[in-house]
Amino acid sequence: MDHLRSRLLAWFDRAQRDLPWRRHPSPYAVAVSEFMLQQTQVATVIPYFNRWMQRFPDWSALATAPESTVLKAWEGLGYYRRARLLHGLAQRVVALPGGELPRDPVALRELPGIGPYTAGAIASIAFDVPAAAVDGNVERVLARVFDERGDFAMPATRARIAAKAAALVRDERPSAYTQALMELGALVCLPRNPHCALCPLHALCARPDPARVPKKSRTTTTRESETLAWIVEEGGLFLQPPGTGPRWPDFWKLPVWEESMMVPADAPRPVGLTYGITRYRVAATLQPGSWARASQPELCRVPLEALGELLLPAPHRKLIGRMLGQDGKSGQLQAPVVAGSLAKAAND
Ligand code: ADE
Repeated sequence: MDHLRSRLLAWFDRAQRDLPWRRHPSPYAVAVSEFMLQQTQVATVIPYFNRWMQRFPDWSALATAPESTVLKAWEGLGYYRRARLLHGLAQRVVALPGGELPRDPVALRELPGIGPYTAGAIASIAFDVPAAAVDGNVERVLARVFDERGDFAMPATRARIAAKAAALVRDERPSAYTQALMELGALVCLPRNPHCALCPLHALCARPDPARVPKKSRTTTTRESETLAWIVEEGGLFLQPPGTGPRWPDFWKLPVWEESMMVPADAPRPVGLTYGITRYRVAATLQPGSWARASQPELCRVPLEALGELLLPAPHRKLIGRMLGQDGKSGQLQAPVVAGSLAKAAND
C-alpha cells in the first residue's frame, strides 16, 4: 500500500497539470472547482472557474450576489442545482464563526451540496486533512488496481471500493495524494485505452486487461423529440419567460412549436441538435415560422441583441447560435454577431 502511495506521489509531482484551482488552493477556490467539476470535464470548467473567481472572488462576494447573477455565471455548465447549492453554501459559510468552511469532513457534510465525495475532496485538497475522495476517476483506478470485477451499478461494489480508498488514506501529503489519484484517472488510467506502459502503478496493478474493469450495467435512456419555434418579429424573438414549464423553471426558453398557432417558414432552414437531460436523449429541432393568429400572451418578444444577457438552457442557446450562424464554441451568444444577424433574420 505504501508503495502505491509513494509511486503515485512521485508521478504526480512530475506529471500534474497546471490547473487554475491548484495555484491558490484556498478552501473557497477548491469548493468552487469541486462543484464545477461534478459532471463536467476539466477543459470545460477552466474558463468558467477563471471568470467565476474574478466575478465572485470570495465567499462573501458570492453570498451577496443575486441568484440570477449566479445562475448567469453558471450558464452553459448545466446541472444548475450545483450553482444554487454553491450559492446557498456561501450564505451558510459567511454566517459561520470565522466565515470559513470547517476542516473536518464530517462537519463539511452537514453543509448544502456537500456529499461524501466533496467533503473528502475539500478536507484533503484544501486543508490537507487525511480523507478519501472517490469520484468516477478514482473508482476506476482502484477497481483496476484491486481487480474489482463487481458491477458498479450495485451499491455493494462501490462500498467495497470506498472501503479500499479509506484504507489507503495516510497523514502524508493528503492534498497531493487525493489529486494524484484523480489525475492518474484523468491522464493515464483512461476508461477505454489506458496508458498502462506509462502508469506508475503498473507493477502493482492486479488487473491483466484493465479496459474491462470497472463493469457497469447500463441504465436505460429514453429517446424523445421536440420541435421549438423560432419566430422573429421586428427584430425580436418570441421566448417563454422564466417561471413557466416543467424543465428549467428559472430560464428563458424557446417556445414549443404549436401546429394550431404557427405557420412554418420556408427560410431560414430548421436547425437541430441532440442533448441529454437526466435519463432522456432529446432530438430538438428549431423550426422558423410566424404566427397563424395573435401571439400567445405569455410569451415575450426579446430583441435579438439582448439574447446574450438572458439565462437560457444550453441546448436552446446552441440552437439559437446555429440559427444565427454562430459556431457556439465560446459557449456565449455574441451580441455584436446577433446584432449583425438582426437584419438578416428580419429579412428572412
Ligand atoms: N476532478 C475533481 N476534482 C478535481 C481536481 N481537483 N482536479 C482535477 N480534476 C478533478
